[in-house]
Amino acid sequence: MSQGIVYVTRRERFNAAHKLWNPGWDDTKNLAVFGKCANPNWHGHNYELFVTVKGIPDPDTGYCIDLKVLSEIIEEKVISQMDHKNLNLDVPFMTGKLTSCENVAIAIWDQLAEGLKGQSCQLHAVKVYETENSIVEYFGGH
Ligand code: NI
Repeated sequence: MSQGIVYVTRRERFNAAHKLWNPGWDDTKNLAVFGKCANPNWHGHNYELFVTVKGIPDPDTGYCIDLKVLSEIIEEKVISQMDHKNLNLDVPFMTGKLTSCENVAIAIWDQLAEGLKGQSCQLHAVKVYETENSIVEYFGGH
């Protein structure tokens, strides 16, 4: 049997409120740049998160990682902290960041990279669907 790196993806979902707002700009500029996304009283999304890890399957289990373990790491590091929260106000690892989908994906990457320490697989990609038509992917800094 051939051997090589296998990519494994787990999907999770969370719901959260946010607004796009640059505190360095006045209201007029924020509303001009971000439009509806800058609604002062917030708006929400049903986010979908796809986390892809890579590794060589363990000969004893056939797994790169037990998906139950991966799901628990995502739950602890991301979902429990973001689900039903306000991303601008409630999420410690988003403090001081614009809550664009790009920054959400980067922050989730950092959380998961930490959570996956000691596992036999490596984080490969974080893909965040803000809506079904708006998707951001992040593959880590290089
Ligand atoms: Ni939004």
